[in-house]
Amino acid sequence: MEAFRAFRIHSPAGGDDARVETITLDDLSPGGVVIRGEYSSINYKDALAGTGEGRILRRYPLVGGVDVAGTVIQSDDERVREGDKVVVNGCGLSETQDGGFAEYARVPADCVVPLPESLDTRTAMGLGTAGFTAALAIHRMELNGQVPALGPVAVTGATGGVGSLAVDMLSGLGYSVTAITSKTDAADYLQTLGAHDVLNVKTMELGNKPLEKALWGGAVDNVGGDLLGWLTRTLRPDGNIASIGLAAGIALNTTVMPFILRGVNLLGINSVHVPRDLRLQVWQRIATDLRPRHLDQVATREVSLEELPAQFPAYIAGTVTGRTIVRLQ
Ligand SMILES: NC(=O)c1ccc[n+]([C@@H]2O[C@H](COP(=O)([O-])OP(=O)(O)OC[C@H]3O[C@@H](n4cnc5c(N)ncnc54)[C@H](OP(=O)(O)O)[C@@H]3O)[C@@H](O)[C@H]2O)c1
Repeated sequence: MEAFRAFRIHSPAGGDDARVETITLDDLSPGGVVIRGEYSSINYKDALAGTGEGRILRRYPLVGGVDVAGTVIQSDDERVREGDKVVVNGCGLSETQDGGFAEYARVPADCVVPLPESLDTRTAMGLGTAGFTAALAIHRMELNGQVPALGPVAVTGATGGVGSLAVDMLSGLGYSVTAITSKTDAADYLQTLGAHDVLNVKTMELGNKPLEKALWGGAVDNVGGDLLGWLTRTLRPDGNIASIGLAAGIALNTTVMPFILRGVNLLGINSVHVPRDLRLQVWQRIATDLRPRHLDQVATREVSLEELPAQFPAYIAGTVTGRTIVRLQ
């Protein structure tokens, strides 16, 4: 096979150490399936890795990008056939093995999910890790008893990729969604996605009692820090909080009171290490009952590999709304 373009990260320093270059298949980490990539996407984690703002890669150099969707051109596994349209998200991409920001990817068969028929590769990357994580969180909450009757579900970091898709998916399932955002001009966008209420975090009084007035039937938290602590103190009895993100910090200050007096459940969501059966199940739900109704309004940007570095700073600053698709060919 000829040489191809890849966005490669050479060190934790970011800057010019992360760039598009020409490589061959022999440069990629081992794997039984070779995919001709059609689209990838940008997630917060990709911006951390690409700028060096966060330590995501465990070895260097690696191709960046935690997501890829494309067509299988080689496979050593009967569960994945040549010609299949597939998606790979997480699974060590851009951490321990080469990722999706390249014209070709080589990955272990266990990571590869044949796309449900109703999803094309571009739609799959409009969703990407963000959509998969939102869906996994909702799936886990429901397995743990979450139902609309428990009360409104709060979504923090609501205009981000995971947040936007969680708002859309939850409202589609009949939950009343309260979107919590740091942006002052996001109400129209969030209401279009199905939010019933929109709160601005800058004007919220978080209080400091071990238990505050119980407001939420459940919560999807993308930011961590003070907001996550406040969610534990304001959840209604037996509700679930899906802890997904750390955009505002890794600390969690709370007490055991919400857990032992209100039976609040704190569910950790890890989209990277997911058994294949569960991956297939979650993508199947994304293609059916969890399919966002407003993906066109969420995934509004498309960029080339060369345009990646210019996109990352806005993710780090938290000023991005929605999702960015990356065109690979
Ligand atoms: N656990 C997992 O497996 C998993 C998977 C995917 C993502 N994540 C994590 O989930 C979070 C969201 O990911 P994403 O890809 O949706 O990110 P994103 O598109 O960049 O969105 C992040 C959003 O968080 C909000 N935010 C609040 N405070 C922020 C701050 N100090 N800096 C930056 N953003 C801030 C902003 O929304 P508002 O302005 O609306 O508040 C921002 O748009 C990230 O922390 C990411 O690492 C975890």
